[in-house]
Amino acid sequence: MNCCVRNCSAILLLILGMVTTINCSSHVNCQESRGNAISNRQDELHCCNETFNSFSKNWHNEADYLTETLQSLKDWSCPQYNAECSKPTFNFNDFTALVYHRSCNRTLFESRCLDSLMRASSARGVSGSIWSNLLRDLRTFQLSQDELRDPCIQVALYDAAVQERGKYGYYHEMKRVFIPFCKFIWCGLDAENIHDHSISAWLCIPTFCRTNIIISIVVCSILSIWNVVANSIVLVVFFKQKRYTSSAGIYKLSIALADIMVG
Ligand SMILES: *[C@@H]1O[C@H](CO)[C@@H](O)[C@H](O)[C@H]1NC(C)=O
Ligand SMILES: *[C@@H]1O[C@H](CO)[C@@H](O)[C@H](O)[C@H]1NC(C)=O
Repeated sequence: MNCCVRNCSAILLLILGMVTTINCSSHVNCQESRGNAISNRQDELHCCNETFNSFSKNWHNEADYLTETLQSLKDWSCPQYNAECSKPTFNFNDFTALVYHRSCNRTLFESRCLDSLMRASSARGVSGSIWSNLLRDLRTFQLSQDELRDPCIQVALYDAAVQERGKYGYYHEMKRVFIPFCKFIWCGLDAENIHDHSISAWLCIPTFCRTNIIISIVVCSILSIWNVVANSIVLVVFFKQKRYTSSAGIYKLSIALADIMVG
């Protein structure tokens, strides 16, 4: 609805003594305003609400990123940002915890992750313990799969991407929320590493969870093979004894056939 119409209706309502505020926020495009402060505080607060509510609804979707959402809330000095920092809603694993730390308490993040970065550097003969240098070097390394699996490296790559390239669009999160026997799978990498390693969400699956997935696949396969074998035996016996003329026989036949198909 356009602002004038809103104002008019607001004034009408005001006359009726029902409403006292005028809200013209709907013309800001919150998506396009990401990364910058919005001059009108009312609009900014509107975008805070819109961004936070949308993420709350869609956080499990592949395309909705915690990194970018926190960044927007921080850029706009949102009340939701302070609330998230003191009580993180979307913190499910080591990766998300570090994403929160990076945004809310950089000292804590850097102290947690300095070791990982120093290890990656010293493995390549570079010594040093200054975060910004380690970060710069990290981007030049051909990182191994094991290093990429480290949540500290993952969030440091976000830090590096933000500092070098800008806040949005150079970093991607991958999630699988509803995999049985696994906790939340949630990780992220910069666009270059994703491209260079052709990485999928499998990289972010913790070892215990991979084991669980493999065990369930094996168990299901064994059950399935056993099912097919057992029911095939039933079928063989059935045809040898020529019992398919009675209705009970046909009933058993159809059960065996259905079982094989399920198997
Ligand atoms: C944002 O949401 C809060 C509560 O959810 C509400 O009180 C406030 O008026 C909203 N602000 C804007 C600008 O929409
Ligand atoms: C950040 O983390 C450090 C280390 O745990 C802690 O001492 C400090 O109080 C935290 N700062 C804030 C603002 O929470």
